[in-house]
Amino acid sequence: MFNSLTALPADPILGLLTQYREDTHPQKIDLGVGVYKDPAGHTPILDCVKIAEQRRFETEDTKVYIGPTGSAQFNQLMSVLAFGKTHPALLADRVRTVSTPGGTGALRVAADFIKRCHPDAVLWVSDPTWANHTGLFEAAGITVKTYPYYDYDNKSLKFDQMMQQLQQVNKDDVVLLHACCHNPSGMDLTPAQWDEVIEVTVKQGFTPLIDMAYQGFGDGLDEDAYGVREMAKAVENMILCSSCSKNFGLYRERIGACTILGSDSAQANTAFSVLLYVVRCIYSMPPAHGAAIVETILADDTLNQQWQQELAVMRDRINGNRTMLVNELHKLGVDRDFSFIAQQKGMFSFLGVSSEQVMTLKHDHSIYMVDSSRISIAGISSANVEYLAHCIAKVIK
Ligand code: LMR
Repeated sequence: MFNSLTALPADPILGLLTQYREDTHPQKIDLGVGVYKDPAGHTPILDCVKIAEQRRFETEDTKVYIGPTGSAQFNQLMSVLAFGKTHPALLADRVRTVSTPGGTGALRVAADFIKRCHPDAVLWVSDPTWANHTGLFEAAGITVKTYPYYDYDNKSLKFDQMMQQLQQVNKDDVVLLHACCHNPSGMDLTPAQWDEVIEVTVKQGFTPLIDMAYQGFGDGLDEDAYGVREMAKAVENMILCSSCSKNFGLYRERIGACTILGSDSAQANTAFSVLLYVVRCIYSMPPAHGAAIVETILADDTLNQQWQQELAVMRDRINGNRTMLVNELHKLGVDRDFSFIAQQKGMFSFLGVSSEQVMTLKHDHSIYMVDSSRISIAGISSANVEYLAHCIAKVIK
C-alpha cells in the first residue's frame, strides 16, 4: 500500500530546526521557527509557569478523561482574556469555547466546523499568510483563496486592494484575519483599518475567523485584541482560534482554544454541540496539562500580574531587537532602508532579500530563516547582531 507514496519535503518552517541543530558553525543564528528566545538564545520556561506547575503537581488528584470541551475554567478564562470581562457578547452568553491541542488544533477544529456549516465555503487568507494555514484548511477539504495584503516592494499594507477583494466575498465564505503580529509580515491592521474591515464583514455577511496566536506580543494584551473585540460587537457569528504557545511559552504543551460566537445563546448551544462532535471525531479530547497551567495563572491575581510582567519583558525584548538590527545595519553604512523592521509588530518581518540571498546566508554564514526571508526577530541578540548585520550587508551588496 505505501508503494504509492512519494516523499514530501520537510515543512518549510519546522525543517529549519533540524538543519540549524546539525550546523556546527560557532556563529550560527536561528531566525527560523517563531519561538521566543532570551539574550542567551534559550527559550525559557516562565517563572509563573513553574509556580503554577508546582501547584498543580501538589493539588491534582485524578487523570480521568477531561471530555471534548477540555477544562471549563480554562475555557472561561480564555474567553475573558480575548474579549475582556464586560464584553457584550459574553454578557449575552453568546460565546462558547473548547480547549484545543495548540493554536493549530484550534484551526483544524475550526476547519471541520466550517465544513459542517457550509461544505462549499471558501476560506480567504491574506497573501501571504502563515505557511501552514493553506495546507491545514485544504486537508479539511476547504478551498483556500487569497486576498491582497502585504506590499513587498513598499513594505506596507495593500489595504485598498484588500478591501476591494473583501467587497467581493460571498456571504457563505469565511475570511481569516490575524488578530495581531501578522505572521509572516509583521504588518498589522491599524484600529481604523480594523473598523473598515468590520464594516465590510457586516455588509457582505461572511464569517470572520480570527487567528490570535500572539496576544500580548504586539502592543499589549488589550491593544492586540482590538479587532477581536470590535468584530465580536458587530457580527452575528465569528470564530476565534487562540494559542498559548507564545504568550505563556507553552509551545510543547500544545494548548490553545477555539471559540465560537453565536447570534444568541440558543444558536451558540447548537453550534457548540457540533463543535464537540467535530472534536470527538478528530482527537476525542484535548490534553489537560497546559490548560491547567494557564488557568492557574489567570485565576490567581498575583500569578496573573507576574505573567503580564514576564510577557512585557518578552514583548519589549523583541521590539528592542527590531531597533537593534536596524541601527546595526545603519552603522555599517548599508544604503537600503530597513527602518520598516523597527515599525512592524510581533515575532516576524520579511527581511526583503531574494531566496538566493536567503540560501547564501544559510550556506555561507549559517544564518537560518524561511525561504521567503521571514525572520524570527527573537533570534537576534546583542551577541549576534553585529555578525548578522555584517552578513546581510555582504549578501545584498
Ligand atoms: C511559526 O510560524 O514559526 C510558528 O507559528 C511555529 C509553527 O508551527 O510554524
